[in-house]
Amino acid sequence: MNLILVGFMGSGKSEVGRRLAERLGMRFADTDEMVEAEAGIPIAQVFQQHGEGSFRELERDAVRKALAADDAVVSTGGGAVIDEDNVALMRDSGVVFYLEVGPRQVERRTDADSSRPLLDVAERVPAIERLLSERKPLYERTAHERVNTDELAIEQVVEEILNRWRRYA
Ligand code: S3P
Repeated sequence: MNLILVGFMGSGKSEVGRRLAERLGMRFADTDEMVEAEAGIPIAQVFQQHGEGSFRELERDAVRKALAADDAVVSTGGGAVIDEDNVALMRDSGVVFYLEVGPRQVERRTDADSSRPLLDVAERVPAIERLLSERKPLYERTAHERVNTDELAIEQVVEEILNRWRRYA
């Protein structure tokens, strides 16, 4: 069974995933890192040079490869849940945790970070709010468990997930 993290940009998926893998002695995969390795360029450049559609194709392949293992902690990119096949695969291959985060925290945690093309816009706050409200139902349909991270430090999120994971494992 895989432990899969979904959620919006800035929800802490990569850092939480890395720590969970360490604590559980499981392998760790981050689909954004896999896309960058495959493309040989940063995600921002994939968007810029090839468009979002190409990025989503690379992401679909990365999700498939990451979930082919059955004992991995997998952190996904914030938009991986848009794709129906990704969603079905995630739900079938493990326990999916949704790291929930509100717009204020997203704004704070992703500030001055140009590596995320969807937030690299002039009006960041309305862009975050719009995308968050579009995405929320997608995270909810994908996840088995939801953890609100707004008031929690990274380590507390890790502990919360470990507690719930033990009920499945
Ligand atoms: C995206 C989120 C990013 C990355 C890409 C697109 C999205 O991942 O995959 O910039 O569509 O929400 P993080 O959630 O890890 O920042």
